[in-house]
Amino acid sequence: MKKFSKFALCAMTIGAGVFAVSCDGDADSPTPVPPAELTLYEKLGGTTKVADPNNPGQMIEQGRLSYRSVVDSTITLIVADIVAGSNGNLGAHFAPIVGEVSNGNATNVAVLSKNLTDFFSANTGGGDTNTYSGLGMVEAHDPAQNPRMGTKANDADYTKFIGYVGAAAGLNGVTDQALIGDVVAVLESLRDPIVQE
Ligand code: HEM
Repeated sequence: MKKFSKFALCAMTIGAGVFAVSCDGDADSPTPVPPAELTLYEKLGGTTKVADPNNPGQMIEQGRLSYRSVVDSTITLIVADIVAGSNGNLGAHFAPIVGEVSNGNATNVAVLSKNLTDFFSANTGGGDTNTYSGLGMVEAHDPAQNPRMGTKANDADYTKFIGYVGAAAGLNGVTDQALIGDVVAVLESLRDPIVQE
């Protein structure tokens, strides 16, 4: 997990067009360190506390709220496409979860939402206040190790998944192209461990 989080952050910084010396692993390099680039978590609102729209009376960090909103919309879009029988939907992979939701059991979807929100927050700069304690990416996406993963994902599934995240970002008002490029860079950095077919 940590291995991918560092890679994700480096990919994100390079994706934003800024060379970050800390990513090349050469501590003795004389190259001047450019001004600190904001982390993706900061760009999405950072640690500023705002009212949590889902939990009246509670506060939530804006960065975390941004991720949670996009994660929840992504899940909704994926499930809606599966229920509608859309072409190329991700039904086979998410069958165990969709089965539960169809039976009115949303408990594990809530856990998935929390884990995905923790994962993105902790690995893109929100690590001081967010901790991910779920499975590693290889384990989580291998049906032999995680029976909640219906079938292995291939490259086309992965690209489709990124499309859902992009659509979900748009639904939540994330329209800045540079910011979307940063998010896509993070997602692309995880293709290798998640695509296992
Ligand atoms: C950037 C891409 C992705 C990221 C960052 C990601 C991340 C995660 C995380 C953090 C979990 C939770 C693990 C746990 O609860 O311990 C998870 C579970 C899962 N992922 Fe992914 N995933 C990605 C892409 C995909 C794709 C492309 C598919 C299928 C086509 C997929 C299917 C699943 C399934 C079925 C689960 C199990 C859900 C559950 O336990 O309720 N994921 N993923």
